[in-house]
Amino acid sequence: MLDSFGREITYMRLSVTELCNLRCRYCMPEDGACRKTRGEFLSEDEIITVVEAAASLGVRKLRITGGEPLVREDIVPLCRRAARVKGIDEVCLTTNGALLPALAKPLREAGVRRVNISLDTLDAQKFRCMSRGGDLSQTIAGIRAALEADFEKVKLNTVLIGGFNDDEIPQLAELTRQYPLDLRFIELMPMPDSGDFGPGAFLPCSVVTERLPELVPVPPDGGVAKLFRLPGALGNIGLISPLSAHFCRECSRIRVTADGKLKPCLHSGDEYSLKGLDFDGMVEELRHAILCKPSWHGVLNPDNRSRAGRSMNRIGG
Ligand code: 5AD
Ligand code: SF4
Repeated sequence: MLDSFGREITYMRLSVTELCNLRCRYCMPEDGACRKTRGEFLSEDEIITVVEAAASLGVRKLRITGGEPLVREDIVPLCRRAARVKGIDEVCLTTNGALLPALAKPLREAGVRRVNISLDTLDAQKFRCMSRGGDLSQTIAGIRAALEADFEKVKLNTVLIGGFNDDEIPQLAELTRQYPLDLRFIELMPMPDSGDFGPGAFLPCSVVTERLPELVPVPPDGGVAKLFRLPGALGNIGLISPLSAHFCRECSRIRVTADGKLKPCLHSGDEYSLKGLDFDGMVEELRHAILCKPSWHGVLNPDNRSRAGRSMNRIGG
């Protein structure tokens, strides 16, 4: 359906858990504590009803996110059910990759068509530090497993962080020459609970084109990333600039949190509760929320933080 600004809403990002096996500094508070009980989150059946309700209003593409979606024991059957919902053309998943060695194949067989894997550094020590204890080799094994599982697309997401990974832009980009995958650099968003990154941590995506003058522009694929390619590469380099060039005017997405709150905009505190509603109730609430989707997210910078009202792990990355 169309929102009040004529944007067609076709894409839903659905968080299926707030929990994660990592604790990235820009995403989660250190203790990672989740003070909610199971009953406060959407059940598997409710999640499927949300997908059905959204599909009935014209959502075609679904992205399963978290927290880390693969920590859910029922993630494979959940993806299988979501992929079968009438009207849903594409189920994709965003993950940190650590559990993909065992799950890539079953997820592909369940109907997941694409995966995005977070990779902010190729240095094991920096990885451990940024994720507060994570093991880079597991994520690398997960990326390999995803490439072997024959997904239609594998993308790596790198959040650009000044003084942390700007020195690795060339090495990270080089992965697109070695493997058939896309790599996207994402500007760090000043989220609540996103750690104590000073103004120097924010880097505009233009640092990537400055660092890699050999990048050749390629036509957009309908996503929010500006696309480029290194000569001879197997995949694209994408630049996602929510701050320096926001894409609100073309925004086609809504988000649903693991506790069943529909967020028409990532950076707005407005939430519409779907928990406990039946199919008809969800359709009604979705319709109402889509009509209330704001035109844009307002000014965002390190001094003017997101009004999302939640940390990223509690929204969905
Ligand atoms: N800024 C930009 N991206 C973020 N993510 C989480 N927090 C932030 C943030 N503050 C995104 C990253 C990560 C995914 C799980 O969520 O892309 O890969
Ligand atoms: Fe987990 Fe991803 Fe957040 Fe890191 S960024 S803590 S991997 S959800």
